[in-house]
Amino acid sequence: MKQYLKADPWSIIEEGFHRAYNENSESIFSIGNGRMGQRANFEEKFTGKTLQGSYVAGVYYPDKTRVGWWKNGYPEYFAKVLNAPNWIGIDITINGKALDLNQCEVEDFRRELNMKEGYLERSFIAKMKNGVKVKVNSKRFCSIVEDEVGAIRYSITPLNYSGVIDITPYIDADIVNKDSNYDEKFWNEIDREVRRRQGYIVAETKKTAFQVATGMKFSITVEEEDIDFDSKKINKEKYVGNKVSIGVSEGSELVVYKYAAYLSSENHSKKELLGNCKSVVKNAFKKGFNTLLSEHKNAWAAKWEESDIIIEGDVSAQQGIRFNIFHLNQTYTGEDERLNIGPKGFTGEKYGGSTYWDTEAYCLPFYLSTADQRVARNLLVYRHRHLEKAIENAGKLGFVKGAALYPMVTMNGEECHNEWEITFEEIHRNGAIAYAIYDYINYTGDVNYLAEYGLEVLIGIARFWKQRVHMSAAKGKYVMLGVTGPNEYENNVNNNWYTNYIATWCMKYTLESIAHVKQTSPQRYAEICSKINFIEIRESDDWKEIIDNMYYPEDKEKGIFLQQDNFLDKEIIKVKDLDPTHLPLNQKWSWDRILRSCFIKQADVLQGLYFFEDQFDVDTIRRNFEFYEPITVHESSLSPCVHSIQAALLGMEEKAYEMYLRTARLDLDDYNNDTEDGLHITSMAGTWMAIVKGFGGMRVKDDKLHLNPFIPKKWKGFAFKIRFRGALLQIKVGQEKTEILNLSDTPVSIILNGKDYALNAVENLVL
Ligand code: BGC
Repeated sequence: MKQYLKADPWSIIEEGFHRAYNENSESIFSIGNGRMGQRANFEEKFTGKTLQGSYVAGVYYPDKTRVGWWKNGYPEYFAKVLNAPNWIGIDITINGKALDLNQCEVEDFRRELNMKEGYLERSFIAKMKNGVKVKVNSKRFCSIVEDEVGAIRYSITPLNYSGVIDITPYIDADIVNKDSNYDEKFWNEIDREVRRRQGYIVAETKKTAFQVATGMKFSITVEEEDIDFDSKKINKEKYVGNKVSIGVSEGSELVVYKYAAYLSSENHSKKELLGNCKSVVKNAFKKGFNTLLSEHKNAWAAKWEESDIIIEGDVSAQQGIRFNIFHLNQTYTGEDERLNIGPKGFTGEKYGGSTYWDTEAYCLPFYLSTADQRVARNLLVYRHRHLEKAIENAGKLGFVKGAALYPMVTMNGEECHNEWEITFEEIHRNGAIAYAIYDYINYTGDVNYLAEYGLEVLIGIARFWKQRVHMSAAKGKYVMLGVTGPNEYENNVNNNWYTNYIATWCMKYTLESIAHVKQTSPQRYAEICSKINFIEIRESDDWKEIIDNMYYPEDKEKGIFLQQDNFLDKEIIKVKDLDPTHLPLNQKWSWDRILRSCFIKQADVLQGLYFFEDQFDVDTIRRNFEFYEPITVHESSLSPCVHSIQAALLGMEEKAYEMYLRTARLDLDDYNNDTEDGLHITSMAGTWMAIVKGFGGMRVKDDKLHLNPFIPKKWKGFAFKIRFRGALLQIKVGQEKTEILNLSDTPVSIILNGKDYALNAVENLVL
């Protein structure tokens, strides 16, 4: 745990320079806009501990999978998210000495991530080794309005010196990845241009040949007056800069305004990249810092208007939830259906910035409730775009006739993860992709999605499950062998209850969806059938047979489902009875010891009971919860939210709160000692769910919004906003009463604590 950040409802604040935690802070104070992201690296030179990180959405490098024990079907590569050319750099030199906080005495250091307005600000006083003292204040943001643009206001005031200050704004494409082998570099330079007060580099990634144009243009003011200045162009391989020498007198403020842009060949033709980059930079420069910032602030205000959660009586919880919402909105905006949500977003290299089942299982509900319907829809369309590749992927493993296996980890639809027990066996991800289609339609009512895109995906997935199970002669039931469930602390198990359950659910839902599309859009249905060569009677009977005869491991005496066959052969020990020095197991125990133990990394049976809670009675859910929760170590950040929601459903309010706390400030307080690698973006959506679905008890059933709120004892009240079927609602939960405000013109009916209410346009319900 690292608790060095100040509690504040709207900002993350570091006071005093915590050098040893710098990489941690660089993750926490990251900024982004869905198209680009930037760790909180310093603009000026810094020789201390740092993880340089600038990222452009969709740009990756396929690193060759190299293993001696190659297995057929292995992916060719794993995807690295690439550190992109540095656009933030501004070097400062005074009297021949570079300003470098690692070489200075630092006073009054302050770093603030202003989440309300979406910018990063840093200020300090540095005493350099040559005795010069300067005051610096820098402010920067990645515009969510002009999403190819980043802007910096960098102010420097000499406090005991009059003379020349050398300033060099630059772009550096000679950068490395921390995770590169043998310091391998991934960018080739294609083009470079330095002009008066501006510079551009077009760089291309090796192998994938993505091109990114990075551009900059800057102006300088002294005492708030624009000044004219000469600059010396620096033009060398993979680097462009302009060195400016300016005489400044003691106490006067010099400000550099640097406007930068990233344009990617994913969005512009390679031929036009440089030209377009110049226009984007020029327009940003023309607009100016203040206009860009005020547009950006207004856009953030609109985002908060729809997605804020207010917690009264607990500033640290308030800060925690806003931090999560802020980063989710910085990572994915839904503007581009080719993009998705990497587990670390734009805040680090780990997990390759790729898409996991996290998106469908954990992130979708946040975007469904807090953004335009198009945003969540684009997450679904993303998988539809990858259907062909999922069919190819299944083909590599021997599946045929249009069976689709979505990758566990992907950038472009191809599998890019190479641990056999995950790549080949963690096939439950297919279930989450189908579940997300259901979840989206259940929430929005947009049932047309099925005919348009959803049904093709569902049929591909159902075909896969059909081929993946087989009839066991011994059991007289269909079984599924050799899988890894969500709990990755077990591999290659037989009949993982969650996977078996979600597999048959997928087939049932596919059958229902076929019936729906056939009835409502017969022509489209015929089109789909001919496109994917689907003859209903040939395939659906097999699915029905499996649905009716699937095997689900359970222990009747205990009244629980078994995570997999023979789970009860394990020695059942509760986590609370473990010597605490053995935790976290993944750092303290050998892998084989973990595999043999009963300890569960993340919700598995309980994940299934969470998705399909309506199909089980509360006592069944309770018995399973009481069995599995005490043996779960939650060593995946995705786990506690599911337990929190389930505990809330079961009326275990303290447990629900305890589980919520495990994720709410996971990164801010660095619980897992890994924040320096980047933030846990996908689990942030789980924290949001723990409040809205857990404490708020929000569900959608039969086209109606249900709420069943309770308030954690420590809080005075909490309020959240959700969009539902055209209405914008604010739900305020207090110790004494619950208020529901319909802030929109759309009437909506609600079931609060089991009772029906109709809420007209702009109306309040107080109970
Ligand atoms: C979890 C997976 C998850 C991945 C990326 C792993 O630790 O076990 O369920 O998909 O992290 O977040």
